[in-house]
Amino acid sequence: MGISLKEVSYSYNPKRKGTKYALKNVSLEINERDEMIAIIGESGSGKSTLVSLFNALKIPTLGEANVMGITIKKIRKRKENYNSIRKHVGLVFQFSDYQLFEETVLNDVMFAPMNFGYKKEEAKEIAIKALNLVGIDESFYEKSPFQLSGGEKKIVSIAGILAMEPDILVFDEPTAGLDPETKKKMIELFRVLNRDLHKTVVFITHDMNIVMEYAKRVIVVADRTIKYDGTKEELFLNHLDIVKDAHIDYPDTFIISKMINEKLNKNINQLLESKEELLEELLKDE
Ligand SMILES: Nc1ncnc2c1ncn2[C@@H]1O[C@H](COP(=O)(O)OP(=O)(O)OP(=O)(O)O)[C@@H](O)[C@H]1O
Ligand SMILES: [Mg+2]
Repeated sequence: MGISLKEVSYSYNPKRKGTKYALKNVSLEINERDEMIAIIGESGSGKSTLVSLFNALKIPTLGEANVMGITIKKIRKRKENYNSIRKHVGLVFQFSDYQLFEETVLNDVMFAPMNFGYKKEEAKEIAIKALNLVGIDESFYEKSPFQLSGGEKKIVSIAGILAMEPDILVFDEPTAGLDPETKKKMIELFRVLNRDLHKTVVFITHDMNIVMEYAKRVIVVADRTIKYDGTKEELFLNHLDIVKDAHIDYPDTFIISKMINEKLNKNINQLLESKEELLEELLKDE
């Protein structure tokens, strides 16, 4: 089950003559459990378009998607099926303004469980649990989502998806605009969801340090298609041409250990996951 795309192309204006595809000929498989995937690539490469195919928010212009056993293709328009997909695959948008629409923060996070048929009190309980997980306290519950800062909106929209209790959680640039501490907390929460609850977590990011520390699998989007799908180690070790062509940064640990190796003639592993690991490695050598 999970998510499967078969030769999918997507155009925002398919009827226009000589239409350009925002995404071209993409195939991939994502398991519904235990995956931790980073999607990377430069601005405009097609990352947001790609993830919006994961929960039928967008329908392939060509090819087909299959999400949790339901086929999504152009000719099929029965919307009721797609709602059940959204219970399994939760997507947090890049821009939270598109995600928040209720009058209060609490109602907003309660929306999905209410929609999935929970009674009001149960929905409230689920919403409060989700808000607690992301660190939003009671003083926010009755605020309008539109009075919140950009970062706070992002965090509330993440709570909104957690409250859907999906198997697969997809986050479009979840840490953009967050302060360093909140950023760290949020990504640690994704790790807990993945490692302890066995959820599949997919996140788009421009931060290669987060990729190196948290992702197990990396998908590189460039030129509106998938250029790489595999481990981060293999990407940064053996596919530097792809990294360069896709205008992707290197993780800090990669650059620092490369410099140390060259300047001090050492042989430190360039694929250490965090600065802490790198420091340990350096001290071990002394
Ligand atoms: N609503 C839209 N209508 C028309 N074209 C669009 C629309 N949204 C995106 N596009 C185009 O589709 C292409 C891919 O956009 P997408 O938003 O998927 O990129 P992205 O990789 O998520 O970029 P970023 O890192 O800036 O978020 C871009 O060329 C963009 O101009
Ligand atoms: Mg985007």
